[in-house]
Amino acid sequence: MELLILILYVLSTVTLLISLQLLIKSSKTSPKLPPGPVPLPVIGSLLKLGDKPHKSLAKLAKIYGPIMCLKLGRRTTVVISSPALAKEVLQKQDLAFSTRSIPNAVHAHSHNRYSTAWLPVADQWRSLRKALNSNIFSGSRLEASQNLRRQKVQELIEYVGKCCQEGVSVDIGSAAFKTSLNLLSNTVFSIDMADPTQDSVKQFRHLIWQSAVEIGKPNLVDYFPILEKIDPQGIRRRLTNHFGQILELFIQLINQRLELRRLGKSGAENDVIDILLNISETNGEINKTHIEHLCLDIFGAGTDTTSSSVEWAMAELLRSPETLKKAKAELEQTIGKGKPIEESDIPQLSYLQAIVKETMRLHPPAPLLVPRTVETNVEVCGYTVPQGAQVLVNAWAIGHDPSVWENPTSFMPERFLDLDIDVRGRDFELIPFGGGRRICPGLSLAIRVIPLMLGSLLNSFDWKLEGGIKPEELDMDDKFGLTLQKTQPLRVVPFPM
Ligand code: HEM
Ligand SMILES: *[C@@H]1O[C@H](CO)[C@@H](O)[C@H](O)[C@H]1NC(C)=O
Ligand SMILES: *[C@@H]1O[C@H](CO)[C@@H](O)[C@H](O)[C@H]1NC(C)=O
Repeated sequence: MELLILILYVLSTVTLLISLQLLIKSSKTSPKLPPGPVPLPVIGSLLKLGDKPHKSLAKLAKIYGPIMCLKLGRRTTVVISSPALAKEVLQKQDLAFSTRSIPNAVHAHSHNRYSTAWLPVADQWRSLRKALNSNIFSGSRLEASQNLRRQKVQELIEYVGKCCQEGVSVDIGSAAFKTSLNLLSNTVFSIDMADPTQDSVKQFRHLIWQSAVEIGKPNLVDYFPILEKIDPQGIRRRLTNHFGQILELFIQLINQRLELRRLGKSGAENDVIDILLNISETNGEINKTHIEHLCLDIFGAGTDTTSSSVEWAMAELLRSPETLKKAKAELEQTIGKGKPIEESDIPQLSYLQAIVKETMRLHPPAPLLVPRTVETNVEVCGYTVPQGAQVLVNAWAIGHDPSVWENPTSFMPERFLDLDIDVRGRDFELIPFGGGRRICPGLSLAIRVIPLMLGSLLNSFDWKLEGGIKPEELDMDDKFGLTLQKTQPLRVVPFPM
C-alpha cells in the first residue's frame, strides 16, 4: 500500500519533531473533545480512512457516535453523522462552521484565493456568490434559460435515438455528462464545449474527475504540514497540472470574448461571461482572475455531480424493474408516452421526484459535503470542536442510518411519497447539497436538470442492461473522490417503446 510506505518513510522525521515539541509545550488543561478511536502515535487514525472514507467513517460513527473526533496525523478532524448534529453545525451554528478547511492541493494555481468554493465568508466570497445567484441561479434567470436546456435534452434524446436505431448501448454517465457540460457552457459562454468529436469531452470529464480524486484523496501534507514543500504523494503537483489544463481552456474563451468586446462586437450574447465581465468593470472585488476560477468552480462542481446522479438513478431503476415500470406509468399518465418533458411538469411528477431524492439519499454526489473548519473553539452538544479542526459532515452515513431510515439500503422511492422531506437544506435527514450559507448555489439548477434528463430518458425509450446482465447482478460499487462516481460505467441498451 503506497500510503503505508510513505507513512513509514516520514515517520521517523516527524516523530523526532513532535517529541521535541511535546518537550517544549507546557501542560494545558484540554477541552472535552468528542469521543473517538485512540490514535496511534504520530499517524493517529490515518490508516482507518481507507479508500472509501465515507464508508469507514460511517462504521466508526456506529461505535463512537454522531459527533466523533479523529486524530489524523497532526490534524484533528471532527465528523458529524446525524441529522440533529448536522442541523447544529449547518444551521444553528452556521456562521461558526462556515469557513472551509482547505486541502493543501487546492493551493494549485492559488485556486483557494479566488474560488467561491474555498474562500472564507467575507467580501470576496459574498460578491462571487451574489454574482452566481443573481446571474445564473435566480428563479427568473432559470426561467429564461429553460429553452436552452430543452434543446440540450432534446439533443441527448436524439443521440440515444440513434443508438436505439443502431442497436448499440449507451454509456449513461458520459452521455449525461456531455449534456450537462453543454448546458453549462451554453449558459456561460454561448457555445457547445462538448463538440462532436467525443474524445475532447472524455478528456474534460477525466480532468474533472481526476481533480475531485486529488482533492478528496487523504494527503499526508494535510496531516503533517511540515511535508508541504515535498508534496510526497505528488497530489498538489498533479492537481496543478489538471487545473492548468482546465483554466487554459477558460482563459482562451474569456480572452476571445474580451477581444470581441474591445472591437465593439459583443453585447448580443447576454450570457454569463458578458455579465461577469461587466461586473468586473465596476466591482473592484471581481477581476479576470476571479472569473477564470469561477468558471473552474462552476464546471468542476456542476458537471459530474449532475451526470452521475442521472447515472445512479438509471442504475437503481434498472435493478428494480417494478420501480421503473411505475416511473414510466406516471410519465405516460402525466405527460403522454414519448412526449418531451417540460420543467414546469416536474411538480406534477411526484414519483419521479421521489426517485431523484432516493438516489441522492443512497448516492450523495458529495458524500462528505465540502470540508469546513472552525476558527475558534466551538461548543457543540457538550463537546468542544477545537480551533482549526477539520469538520466533515457525513451525508452518506446519515442517508444510510437505520435509526433515520427504514430499510436504509433498499431503493424505495415510495418512502418519499408521504414524507415531507426535501433536499433544499432544511431537512437534515437528506442533505446532498449541504446547508446554511455555504449550501450549494447550483441546487436550483440541479433539481431542474436531473429530473428533466432522467424523465426524458425514461419517457422516450425502454431500457435493458447490456449483455444480458440480470438486474440483481448489476455492479453498484462506488469510488470516492471529493465526489462519488460509479466504478463500472452503466451501459444500457435503449429500445423503441
Ligand atoms: C447533483 C448536483 C450537485 C450536488 C449534489 C452538489 C453538492 C454540493 C455540496 C454538498 C456542496 C457543499 C455545501 C456545503 O458545504 O454545505 C456544494 C458546493 C458548491 N456547489 Fe454544488 N452540487 C451540485 C451541483 C452544482 C452545480 C450544477 C453547480 C454550479 C453550476 C454547483 C456549484 C457549487 C459551488 C460553486 C459550491 C461552493 C459553494 C460555497 O462554498 O460557497 N454545484 N455543492
Ligand atoms: C454589459 O455592458 C454593456 C455596456 O455597458 C451593455 O451594453 C450590455 O448589455 C451589458 N451586458 C450584460 C449581459 O449585462
Ligand atoms: C485580481 O485580484 C487579486 C486580488 O484580489 C490579484 O491578486 C490578482 O492579481 C488580480 N488579477 C488581475 C488579472 O488583475
